[in-house]
Amino acid sequence: MKNILITGGAGYIGSHTAVELIKAGYRPIIIDDLSNSQEKVLERLEEITGMKIPFYLGDCADRSLLDQIAKDHKLSGVIHFAAFKAVGESTQKPLKYYKNNVGSLVALLEFMEAHSILDLVFSSSCTVYGQPDTLPVTEDTPRKEAESPYGNTKKVCEDILVDLIKSKSDLKIISLRYFNPIGAHPSGKIGELPSGVPNNLVPFVTQTAAGIREKLTVFGDDYYTPDGSCVRDFIHVMDLADAHVKALSFLENKNTNFYDVFNVGTGNGNTVLEVIHTFEEVNDLKLNYEIGPRRPGDVVKIWADTTKINQVLGWYPKNSLADSLRDSWNWEKKLNE
Ligand SMILES: NC(=O)c1ccc[n+]([C@@H]2O[C@H](COP(=O)([O-])OP(=O)(O)OC[C@H]3O[C@@H](n4cnc5c(N)ncnc54)[C@H](O)[C@@H]3O)[C@@H](O)[C@H]2O)c1
Repeated sequence: MKNILITGGAGYIGSHTAVELIKAGYRPIIIDDLSNSQEKVLERLEEITGMKIPFYLGDCADRSLLDQIAKDHKLSGVIHFAAFKAVGESTQKPLKYYKNNVGSLVALLEFMEAHSILDLVFSSSCTVYGQPDTLPVTEDTPRKEAESPYGNTKKVCEDILVDLIKSKSDLKIISLRYFNPIGAHPSGKIGELPSGVPNNLVPFVTQTAAGIREKLTVFGDDYYTPDGSCVRDFIHVMDLADAHVKALSFLENKNTNFYDVFNVGTGNGNTVLEVIHTFEEVNDLKLNYEIGPRRPGDVVKIWADTTKINQVLGWYPKNSLADSLRDSWNWEKKLNE
């Protein structure tokens, strides 16, 4: 069994990826400082997978802790999820974001080189495209100036990886540019755990349906889109998790140093209002929502061209928007039980 270090593995996408890794025959090792997650996720993962996952509590930029992990387990690859991700906070505290998001990547790369751990999958984001001029976006669509320090950390991290591979490092690296991850494990045992007021649409939708929030506001219905609300590419977190497994196994078969980027989305754009109506329909409930003014800085529409990941990694999403929204609601209900 190959050991894969997952930084930020107690978080939303990392925890679901741990499940998919185990299903594919890997052994995940998690390091997380629990700055945006809870330790009970580890118990839940054990319930789902029947496997006790080695867990290290700490900062993934802590070299002595990383060295200890490499001593305890022979690592064959790393998936680097750990980062801060609150766009709004990043504009108030940019250094916190650069230090954690960029600093942890650099520390991790130094650690990997020192221990000859060659394979890395990095969490990037469609935020690097900003508001694109053409749709859907391919990996060759030019990246735009970042809208926030958070977005810029993803661009800077991608640039660091490009420079590293140019320098003839032995590493083999894939950046996955996630579109909008939603949904939860179908068991309802793990899912997204936003702290405070959710930044993302779907946790706001589920919390409104659960009565935690009084009302959902749709920011604008007068954009040039099918129903006037913004368009995103919503991808089920289990499909996203599977993309990491495919990326890892692709890297394992590479004999030379390597870097590439892949979009991970469904290839379809859905409007915010479509999400609301699909959520109501599939879960048979009514959502209290209102139309509000446009929100400054919102990208109007973006969705992925997924041809590259389909063809090169052989990855295709299996879940529909309705599946995702059913699983999101199932998770929210279990959270409030
Ligand atoms: N969720 C999204 O919408 C989205 C979209 C695009 C990209 N991403 C990226 O995907 C990755 C995972 O996102 P997520 O939604 O699972 O976020 P998350 O906050 O749920 O998970 C991140 C985890 O990393 C941990 N962490 C943060 N800094 C750490 C550090 N220095 N050392 C150890 N642990 C640390 C947190 O405690 C948390 O458990 C992030 O890099 C994020 O920027 C997320």
